[in-house]
Formats: sequence, structure tokens, C-alpha cells
Amino acid sequence: MIFEMQGPEKVLFGKNVRHKLPELLPEGNLFIICGKHSQQRIKAELLPGLQGRKVEIFTGFPAEAPLDVTDNALSAARSLKARSIIGWGGGSCIDAAKTVASLLDSGISATEAFRTDLSLGQRSCFFAALPTTAGTAAEMTPNAVLCDPETGIKKSLRGTAMFADAALIDPELLKGAPDEVIFSSGFDALTQGIESTISAKADAMTVMLSVEGTFLTWQALQLYSANCKSDKVYEDLARGCMLSGAAFVRSGLGAAHGIGHPISGLKGVPHGVCCAVLLAEVLKWNLPVARPRMEQLALRLGINSPEEFIEEVIGLRRKCHLPENFKGWGLTLQDFPFVVKNCRSGSMKSNPRPFSDEEVAAFLEKLI
Ligand SMILES: [Fe+2]
Repeated sequence: MIFEMQGPEKVLFGKNVRHKLPELLPEGNLFIICGKHSQQRIKAELLPGLQGRKVEIFTGFPAEAPLDVTDNALSAARSLKARSIIGWGGGSCIDAAKTVASLLDSGISATEAFRTDLSLGQRSCFFAALPTTAGTAAEMTPNAVLCDPETGIKKSLRGTAMFADAALIDPELLKGAPDEVIFSSGFDALTQGIESTISAKADAMTVMLSVEGTFLTWQALQLYSANCKSDKVYEDLARGCMLSGAAFVRSGLGAAHGIGHPISGLKGVPHGVCCAVLLAEVLKWNLPVARPRMEQLALRLGINSPEEFIEEVIGLRRKCHLPENFKGWGLTLQDFPFVVKNCRSGSMKSNPRPFSDEEVAAFLEKLI
């Protein structure tokens, strides 16, 4: 058996590792993309150690990485002549920063790259990711999920240029996030761990990572939803997400991600909420072909059978106050052709039990 592991050049994990960022940076100007809650911390903690170089903070980056805002950030980074790009925030900020870093010296816009499915193989500037959610694992992966607001199409730009030079995963950065963000991003990480484990492309190495990642995320969400917000819970959320991320770089994901992306792009449903709605139904669909891996996962979680495991997934979703269908998001039968047409991503290809177009539509009928 041949293994090939790929990931960020350097991964730093643990409490306060964010303070190591200045010593990793090369010379030159710095462009930071962050969410609106991170700006104050960045100004207080990072900027004093960076005197003598130009720094621009592109703050308030929206969720789900819209292409037009990503292009605004790319133009600003080019005007600054940035040599380091930092994504400090949720998956949207990190995916946008990846895109900006990968296209910085190319003369190509994010919109052009997205619409031509450009593969991004080289990057000339430094790129670091500091996640403030334990959800997408964008700091570990070589793709950026972007959304075209004109068409509602949501898909990935990919390429090895998108692996970070440094991923600094500091559980302290998760603290202060609203419960709803912890829950929806946590269900994203959970879905990634589970889909990676049962993926058609999973192997011994990825399963080892994804089962452990799922276990940590599972336990932490159980505790957090019971109002336990200890340092260990935050650390397990961050570590679980990182491990599952390291796994799905190679194993790929599954139908919750494949079917979820067009629904999210079309209806503005947050990615983690899509995962939460779809996960249990996708597991039911896959059970006939994925029983051994689901048994392995259930065993690690202390659950007796895959059937019980699916019921527990539904129970955890309830505890996390996440919805069981798309009723609140206006998804209707008329939207199904769009979803069917745009769900055939890499994630659908690694789902262990294939779906025909008709089966995707029939599957969704239960969820509207
Ligand atoms: Fe995800």
C-alpha cells in the first residue's frame, strides 16, 4: 500500500500559538483578511510586533466567501504590494486569503479563476491561516470554497499553492464565538470526520485520523451543548477539526457536502447548517454499503450499532439547536434541477453509494 500525505508546510497547534506568527513572517508588507470580531485582537496583539512594515487589515469579510468581495481583497493586496497574506477568521476568511495568496502575482481575478476552473499550482508570497472556528478545516486543505453571487454556484478552486505555509491553530481563538457558530461549524467538522471515514477513497491512514477527529468533535459538542465550555472542550473542538481536515485532504468527503454546496449557494444556508440537515439522511442512504466503517466509528464513540449512531447524530443535532430540514430556507421543488446540476463535485464522487439525478431529487423531497 502506498501512502501520500500532503498538508500545510507547518502546523502549529495549541494554546497561544497565534503569538508565533511574527517570527514566521518573511520581509515585506502584510495583508490580513479577517472577520469583524477579529480586528481588535489583531490590532492589540499582532501589530505591535510588526512595526516597520506596512500592514492592511481587510475586515468584516462575509460568510461563504463571495467572489466579488474576494476580488476586492485581491485588488487591495496587489495595491499594497503584499508579500504575506494572512487569513484570520472562519473558513470564509481563510478561503478568501488562500485565493488572494494564490492569485496575487498572476494578474488573474478570482472570478476568472473560478469560472475557468483554474488549477493553482504555484504561489510566490507567504500565506498563513489562523482559524477562529473549528469547522471547515480550511487551514489544512488545498482548496478554497467560493460562491458566485451572480449565479448561486458554489465550488472550489484547487491546487497545491493553496496549502498554507503555516497553519496556526490556537483553541483560544474559538473562545467568545456565539453558540450558534460553535454548533454549526462543529457540525461541519463532524460531517467532515464522518464523511471522510466512510468515503470511497478512505484508506487506513485517513481513517485513523478521521475516526479520532470525529471522536474529539463528537465529545466536545456533547459537552458544549450541555454548557460545558472548558479549555479542554475548545481544544478538542480545534483538534478534532484539524485531524478530520488532515484526513479529507486525501479521502475526500461525501454527499452531505456535495448536495449541501448548491443549496448553500442558492439559498444562503450556512454551510454547517446544510451539513447538519443532510448528515443523518446521508448516513441512512450510505448504510447498506458503509456498514463496516460506520460500525468502527460507532464503536469509537461508545455506541452499539450504526443504526443507533444515526439516531445519536439526530439527537446531537437537536441538542445543538440545528434544523432537521430546509423548511426555513425556502428550498422548493423548483430548486431541485439547480441542485442536481450543481452537486456533482469531488465530494459526490467519493460518497460510497452513488446517487442518480432522480435519486438526489427524491432524497431532497424528504427535507423540504
Ligand atoms: Fe465542510
